[in-house]
Amino acid sequence: MLCLGIETSCDETALALVRDGKCVESVLATQMDVHALFGGVVPEIASREHYRFLGALYDELMRRTGLTLADVDVVAVTRGPGLLGALLVGVAFAKGLSLAGNKPLIAVNHLHAHLLAVGLEHELLYPLLGLLVSGGHTHIYRVDAPESLELLGHTLDDAAGEACDKFAKMLGLPYPGGVLLDRLAQRGAADAHLFPRPYTHVDNLDFSQRIEDGRADVSQRTSRARGGGQACPRSRYRLGSPALCDVCASYMLAVAETLSLKMEKAFHRERQKGITGIVVAGGVAANTQVRAAMHVLAEKVGKPLLLPSRFLCTDNAVMIAHAGELLACKGYGQGLAFPAIPRGQKLPDDLGELRAPLHSL
Ligand code: KG4
Ligand code: ZN
Repeated sequence: MLCLGIETSCDETALALVRDGKCVESVLATQMDVHALFGGVVPEIASREHYRFLGALYDELMRRTGLTLADVDVVAVTRGPGLLGALLVGVAFAKGLSLAGNKPLIAVNHLHAHLLAVGLEHELLYPLLGLLVSGGHTHIYRVDAPESLELLGHTLDDAAGEACDKFAKMLGLPYPGGVLLDRLAQRGAADAHLFPRPYTHVDNLDFSQRIEDGRADVSQRTSRARGGGQACPRSRYRLGSPALCDVCASYMLAVAETLSLKMEKAFHRERQKGITGIVVAGGVAANTQVRAAMHVLAEKVGKPLLLPSRFLCTDNAVMIAHAGELLACKGYGQGLAFPAIPRGQKLPDDLGELRAPLHSL
């Protein structure tokens, strides 16, 4: 089956073709430089950039592969969560293709697609314990099947990627700071006591940036590490200085260990369900210290760790096409009327809520 995937939920415009669990080709245009001018993603600009690039990228994908719409068996698109205007560009484009080519449509949950992406590189044996750490989400799931993911815990405030980006901003690093934090951290020495592991003593699987006993929050610690003064956006660190690298390493260690402590709790809570392995996905799963911490955890609990390659961690359309293909193979599909579902609005847990047999497959 040849599945076309379309991704426009945030600031990457991407299309990909996946056939039988393997990527045929993918194209991606990032808007990072435009949004960097504003220090974060500007929703209206994101929608306009998707609108500007999507058609041209589709033509490029088809030109590179020598395929046409007639060769595509099913069209999959991110329905949410994401920025509403951005999602609508992709959803409208997918519906247009579906109508023009008489192709079945699959509406994909972006978060589920992140977690399933590792299936392009490893065989997935369910149930898996999944950690999704991206710009907007820190979610722990039990993944029972491509269409059945149970949310076990989530962040009560900032997501891991958002926290990294904000921290980088405090240090005066450009947006999005996560990748740069990672690079600098690798040249530094981590101080395990500089930052807290917030909310880890609480007996649930949720996350929070705040320390609820009234001690300093993360921004105040940053200020202290800098040698006092207010937590201001202008950093006193010189880019690349050993002190900056050390503070980045200490912060990323705190993030990685916080994630790992909660995942360990989740594993013990779910172990009687027969968890076969641990999956970590989303942009922050590309982080060196997070990857290292998850290796240590997997070894400790004696289960395999399934980590996608770094390019599959951040937003892409290969994961959308892959999730779409998995669902199409199980007979799921949507009619043309399905809505885009923005961040903050509940997505159906079950991707096939509009289950209908795909007669044309
Ligand atoms: O999954 P993703 O590409 O987009 C969302 O769905 O949100 O994740 C983007 C987030 C950003 O906050 C970015 O700073 C962070 O992932 N990120 C990283 C790294 N690469 C991306 N954070 C830490 N280390 C990295 N190597
Ligand atoms: Zn994402």
